[in-house]
Amino acid sequence: MRFGHFDDAAREYVITTPRTPYPWINYLGTEEFFGIISHTGGGYCFYRDARLRRLTRYRYNNVPADVGGRYYYVRDGADFWTPGWKPVKRELDSYQCRVGLSYTKIAGRRKGVLAEVLYFVPLGTNAEVHRVTLRNTSRSPKDLKLFSFVEFCLWDANDDQNNYQRNLSIGEVEKDGSTIYHKTEYRERRNHYAVYSVNAKVAGFDTDRESFLGPDNGFGEPQVVAEGRSRNSLASGWSPIGSHQLAVRLKPGEEKTFVFVLGYVENPVEEKFERPGVVNKKPARELLARFQTTEQVDAALAALRDYWTQMLSKYQVKSGEKRLDRMVNIWNPYQCMVTFNMSRSASYFETGIGRGMGFRDSNQDLLGFVHLVPSRARERILDIAATQKEDGSAYHQYQPLTKRGNNDIGSGFNDDPLWLISGTAAYVKETGDLAILKEQVSFDNQARNTATLFEHLKRSFDHVLKNLGPHGLPLIGRADWNDCLNLNCFSDTPGESFQTTGNRVGRTAESVFIAGLFVQVAPDYADLAGKMGFSDEAKRARHEQQKMEETVLQHGWDGGWFVRAYDFFGKKVGSKECRDGQILIESQGYCVMAGIGVETGQARKALDAVRDRLETKHGIVLNQPAYQEYHLELGEISSYPPGYKENAGIFCHNNPWVMIAETVVGRGERAFELWKKIAPSYREAISEVHRLEPYVYAQMIAGKDAVRHGEAKNSWLTGTAAWNFVAISQYILGVKPELDGLRVSPCIPAELKQLAIVRRCREAEYRIRVKNVGHLAAGRSARLTVDGKPVDGQLVRWAPAGSVVKVDCEV
Ligand code: GLC
Ligand code: GLC
Repeated sequence: MRFGHFDDAAREYVITTPRTPYPWINYLGTEEFFGIISHTGGGYCFYRDARLRRLTRYRYNNVPADVGGRYYYVRDGADFWTPGWKPVKRELDSYQCRVGLSYTKIAGRRKGVLAEVLYFVPLGTNAEVHRVTLRNTSRSPKDLKLFSFVEFCLWDANDDQNNYQRNLSIGEVEKDGSTIYHKTEYRERRNHYAVYSVNAKVAGFDTDRESFLGPDNGFGEPQVVAEGRSRNSLASGWSPIGSHQLAVRLKPGEEKTFVFVLGYVENPVEEKFERPGVVNKKPARELLARFQTTEQVDAALAALRDYWTQMLSKYQVKSGEKRLDRMVNIWNPYQCMVTFNMSRSASYFETGIGRGMGFRDSNQDLLGFVHLVPSRARERILDIAATQKEDGSAYHQYQPLTKRGNNDIGSGFNDDPLWLISGTAAYVKETGDLAILKEQVSFDNQARNTATLFEHLKRSFDHVLKNLGPHGLPLIGRADWNDCLNLNCFSDTPGESFQTTGNRVGRTAESVFIAGLFVQVAPDYADLAGKMGFSDEAKRARHEQQKMEETVLQHGWDGGWFVRAYDFFGKKVGSKECRDGQILIESQGYCVMAGIGVETGQARKALDAVRDRLETKHGIVLNQPAYQEYHLELGEISSYPPGYKENAGIFCHNNPWVMIAETVVGRGERAFELWKKIAPSYREAISEVHRLEPYVYAQMIAGKDAVRHGEAKNSWLTGTAAWNFVAISQYILGVKPELDGLRVSPCIPAELKQLAIVRRCREAEYRIRVKNVGHLAAGRSARLTVDGKPVDGQLVRWAPAGSVVKVDCEV
């Protein structure tokens, strides 16, 4: 069952009923100012940091779900309603929400009035613009009232919902004409305020929540709207809000448009005030002047569209299969951009308070983002590397505003350092910018303690080698990719963090996954060393790679698949010897992706075991059998009820590792089959089961042991976005940048007869035509002609900037 449809030409998903199974959301903003917005207008906005600079308030896990947002109430006689249905929930004669790239448009119609609200953040602007259009579709004149509404957050979203003894006394606002200024704490240490304005004369306003709603009402029944009369309230403490009242008279067929701006403004500390106690409004006025007319708004929207057109043009495919094309051309890169911007901070499953930027997460996000805006990827790599410690270890997270490592969580996740090699290698392959490797970068953000970025990569590589366990496999530390495999934790205290607790200290628990990751990044590291002229280092890296490969085959092979880990006591995790958790997905995907056992047959065996033991109709579960009880020696993985999250849930993040692994052994049919199981556009048809947005991936789909098998959770902010883009675009469709050229080696199923791919990279354009003559699905069998000349192998050498290169490929 569907709740809408894709409009590919407009690059939109069109939601046609407000009654979706869960709030379906979108993101506004591209660089510094962001909003999250549901299909009914719920959500909030913030400047840069969702915790420390939150403009509007939002209550997570509310009842009913998703109330609170930027609302526009239409009052028509005694009747009043909201175009997004919520929060008033008066039945609409029609409803539509268009989810676009960095904008959302919600339109509702009732009793001869159409109200449409377009929400977006213009490029280079620290504000949301809301363009509200009211149209009289009836035959008689309409005397309408329009009421706007936002509720301000007192900036620190965490403190805002805890510290009521203080917060209920500090709220302050100013009102000037049609503009409301929210200036809580501005009198003391803040030099920023929020502004909410409309480009028309107001008939009334409110800034005090209780005056607007009435003491006993929710957002669905504001007293002011019900009575049609603003109170002109000035908030003094309690809860500051912003609400405007506009009188709108419309002849039959007539429409009027209003532009609302909700923005963030900063003043230099010495220019905070206009007069004692009165905020300096100059920068706010400059901001508002840019959005006074609908023409200005239309131009800003057009610029935003162009921005996306340009970015998406880096990789475009035409396959004849709409569901594939729309993921690759539109939605997957869009989600990659959002995860790059947000990391794991603000979604409908992440409160914007808890987690900063992950070292591991952000590096992986780069894999799917780097081609969109390479310069921002470069900056991110240098930021991440600067949090690395001297011994090569890494803080697990860092704060976006300060860019410093987070001491509360600390380090000791032994996979973290290696991801820096992956992220950096992806960037250099995309751009050829070897100079980044020579940049001086701090350790632990200490300005005086620096080394080249390449040296950071070396410390990452060596961190693994300096931390090997009894079998010669990498020590796992607090956890590896699987945050919930906590083999030194041994926690029996409720509420204790599985990630930061280490009740046992030992050097025994080892990770086969990190070994696979090491073997996979070693060639990248060696190649980068080679390009730097460090041929001995390159040789050493290749030697270590080979040694690790042998170790995996010797101690990490369980007969039918790869072992997952050795626990604190040296017992296998993910082995036929175990009762639960006999096989786990990560080591199968990563070891084969790294090429381990491809020549000797273990690779295929491991993938067959995945198919036989882990695959379901909704994707591949993380482990089987699910852990039935809590294991002190395994940690959080066994804390989840069977079928959810890391305990046998379908982690859409690691499914693509298996897809890629399938292409490594040349099984394109399998790879594509697995991709289709989790790709949102393919799951759209079962939206009543999946329940989350059909245009983006979710982190997890409940596994077969779960009561709610097939139901997704944690949409948007997940490494799933980047990895699925890598799997489908670089391995299945098979167009992948490498240091010396573009590799073209599709590994596709018979159902894809031909492909036309345009890849723009390093200032040149590659027009690739793939003909699937069906000899073999194996990528290595592709035959290429470049500008009409046959070439050996599958590498198309980088062409000079400005060139257009024609590539013909037969598989
Ligand atoms: C979450 C974390 C990620 C981790 C994964 C598996 O997605 O953000 O870092 O790898 O869970 O535990
Ligand atoms: C990851 C896991 C989650 C765990 C969290 C702890 O996000 O997916 O289950 O609770 O890490 O940091």
